[in-house]
Amino acid sequence: MVYQATASAPVNIACIKYWGKRDTKLILPTNSSLSVTLSQDHLRSTTTSRADPSFAKDRLWLNGKEEEIVAPGRLATCIAELKKLRKELVEDKDSSAPKLSTFPVHIASFNNFPTAAGLASSASGFAALVSSLAALYALPCSPSTLSLIARQGSGSACRSLFGGYVAWEQGVLDDGSDSLAVEVAPRSHWPEMHALICVVSDDKKGTSSTSGMQRTVQTSELLQHRIKHVVPKRMKEIEAAIKAKDFDAFAKVTMADSNQFHAVALDTEPPIFYMNDVSRSIIALIVEYNRVAIEKTGKRKAAYTYDAGPNAVIYTLQENVKEIVELIVKYFPQKDGFKDPFQLFAGGSVG
Ligand code: ADP
Ligand code: DP6
Repeated sequence: MVYQATASAPVNIACIKYWGKRDTKLILPTNSSLSVTLSQDHLRSTTTSRADPSFAKDRLWLNGKEEEIVAPGRLATCIAELKKLRKELVEDKDSSAPKLSTFPVHIASFNNFPTAAGLASSASGFAALVSSLAALYALPCSPSTLSLIARQGSGSACRSLFGGYVAWEQGVLDDGSDSLAVEVAPRSHWPEMHALICVVSDDKKGTSSTSGMQRTVQTSELLQHRIKHVVPKRMKEIEAAIKAKDFDAFAKVTMADSNQFHAVALDTEPPIFYMNDVSRSIIALIVEYNRVAIEKTGKRKAAYTYDAGPNAVIYTLQENVKEIVELIVKYFPQKDGFKDPFQLFAGGSVG
């Protein structure tokens, strides 16, 4: 009997950014966040897990290369938590269920886009890992319950357990049991939303999100203001914008939050710069594009957002995608920072 399961998960791109932990082991954030999960067509991780009593130990291959699983690291924690759920929820309840929780697992995962390059591979990667083990173990768990485990692999991964529009509620409990992802709206609610990913650089980032955000927690006064006075209000505003399908309000909050995230990175000691000149030029282009749109219709038509790297994600509605792609290609020929046409764009709908 072969015990094996495969699952895929897409990346998600935050509109309200997670930046800072109150517990670095359990990965509990200092603020709630909200993201849009992209469709699986472009950026996804696909993971196959197999359990077998003849395996000597748990092992994982990422893009064909073995990654060490060291306890109590993130990978080891996720695997241990899922084995625990298998025992409690399946094997302890049904004595005829195979004791998969006692078998070592071999896991193979592939990303169809650059890994560790600021394109959120850790988010899709840990979400796919948790989903594949949950399928292997036939866990009767909701995506929110699984998000509690994916969160311990990488915070942003908890949001990739859902498609569409997803909030990660920061929670208040010390054990993290209320720090989970919830669906704000399914993809079908607002399928016209699109994300254009402009790969300015797929080099490994200089300061990882994990270390960068803790430096910000330790040194930035502005982060304290953001956590207390800005994010709670913005979470309400963006949820309302999504529910009302109000793109103008969605764009305003998304761009403001990207700006503030990069401001707290700059307010860190020593300062962290994630955007480069090309990133800033793309901002200028979108600002001008929106200025013309506001003049004509009173409303914005695009929103930029940047994570911990120089790559731009532009949210817009389907009707504007062609126009924006043409503008970007016109103003940013490959020699100005893009590496090759394949990497120029991954345009995706919401997944
Ligand atoms: P990114 O910006 O791509 O999220 P990070 O440096 O934050 O980059 O995270 C990259 C790390 O995430 C990898 O080194 C690996 O540990 C983990 N990771 C990425 N993809 C996968 C995957 N498919 N399965 C398991 N872990 C993954
Ligand atoms: C800027 O989830 O990669 O993309 O929890 O330490 O693994 P760890 O950090 P990670 O940080 C993501 C930061 C961000 C914003 C976001 O996705 O909300």
